[in-house]
Amino acid sequence: MQKKIMAVFGTRPEAIKMAPLLKALKENENYKLVITVTAQHREMLDQVMELFKLEADYDLDIMQDRQTLSGLSARIINKLDGILSQEKPDLLLVHGDTSSTFIGALTAFYNQIDIAHVEAGLRTHNKYSPFPEEMNRQLTGVLADLNFAPTSKAKANLMLENTAEDRIFVTGNTVIDALLSVVDENYQFENQLLKKMDFAEKKVILLTAHRRENLGQPMENIFRAVRELTAEISDLEVIFPVHLNPVIRELSKKMLADNNQIHLIEPLDYLPFANLMARVDLVLTDSGGIQEEAPSLGKPVLVLRDTTERPEAVEAGTVLKVGTEYNDICQQTYKLLTDSSEYNKHAAAVNPYGDGQAVVRIIKAMDFNFEFSQERPEDFNQ
Ligand code: UD1
Ligand code: UDP
Repeated sequence: MQKKIMAVFGTRPEAIKMAPLLKALKENENYKLVITVTAQHREMLDQVMELFKLEADYDLDIMQDRQTLSGLSARIINKLDGILSQEKPDLLLVHGDTSSTFIGALTAFYNQIDIAHVEAGLRTHNKYSPFPEEMNRQLTGVLADLNFAPTSKAKANLMLENTAEDRIFVTGNTVIDALLSVVDENYQFENQLLKKMDFAEKKVILLTAHRRENLGQPMENIFRAVRELTAEISDLEVIFPVHLNPVIRELSKKMLADNNQIHLIEPLDYLPFANLMARVDLVLTDSGGIQEEAPSLGKPVLVLRDTTERPEAVEAGTVLKVGTEYNDICQQTYKLLTDSSEYNKHAAAVNPYGDGQAVVRIIKAMDFNFEFSQERPEDFNQ
């Protein structure tokens, strides 16, 4: 008998990473898929839904300007509860570590609905970094019945927390499935700035910054460092698609808008963004997903955070944890951009996060779980 799966998600990265899985589930006759978006993000979520041609069955439309964690959590639980008790899916699918993820899982638990966690087992073991994501994913992990861990390190983290081994499947990360579906060396940008950018002659940095724990002094340090770098390196161009968080928009406008080597642009659709990543020299970011994507494109990433739950690419050398101190950002970025042997050391393409087959493994694991198949899928082996 067909099983009803409800996916609940709300932000840009969840939608990108869920999209390939949702498309495959839609076409699979073992499953009836119901999509519920919390719309914790609005415009940035809609961009992804449109690109991957996904339509929500339920849209909770909860985003508010400058929303608080408690306010957004309360709105999700209030609106999701009735939908879950009415739809009664056989399995709730959540992804990663946002508040939509954790509150989605918690509401499913209150309705005694089984939970599958995609991108399970990432840990820093630091309660406040990243905040609130570390606790969102730990708490989701405790509630989850099925864990799709992207790597064997993520599986090991879950085992340390006494998660039953037969409930963990190492699948690779679906972000690599998504990335491979959009990167194309012949891609032509529509955005005028990107269309005209001389990627061959200029040194081009892609910058993104949005983490809650970086708001305030750390973000000021990042922006000051980027300004300083443009003063030191005359052929440097910095492209910064600015997150729609108004706090970041205000600060970036105030500190960076008058610099003609720094280009503040709107958040890009995933298609141009992924192809931009493939062409720049270096990525400066506090994003989680970009730490997984850029290494597979051979782009060195300087992570603007003190902790990372993604150690695999750090060990491979493509990701460097630089933190948020002004001097560290200036020095490490300058070195990479001006010393080609140093640059080459960090620019080898590595794929610790997936081989593009994560969706296939997750569906096999679901088939095994629901006894559509007797065969447990092989783990992804990076
Ligand atoms: C959220 C997630 C974070 C994830 C990030 C991805 C939580 C607590 N945080 O953080 O884990 O890394 O998404 O980007 O789950 N806004 C808009 N339009 C949008 C999106 C955001 O205007 O499409 C503005 C709103 O004013 C909103 C604010 O940005 O209140 C912050 O959004 P929120 O989802 O609370 O936090 P993020 O920092 O985006
Ligand atoms: N991304 C995008 N457009 C942008 C910036 C990022 O499509 O302007 C994509 C990026 O490729 C990655 C995801 O959004 O897949 C990361 O989102 P974000 O950094 O907001 O969240 P995080 O991964 O830190 O949770």
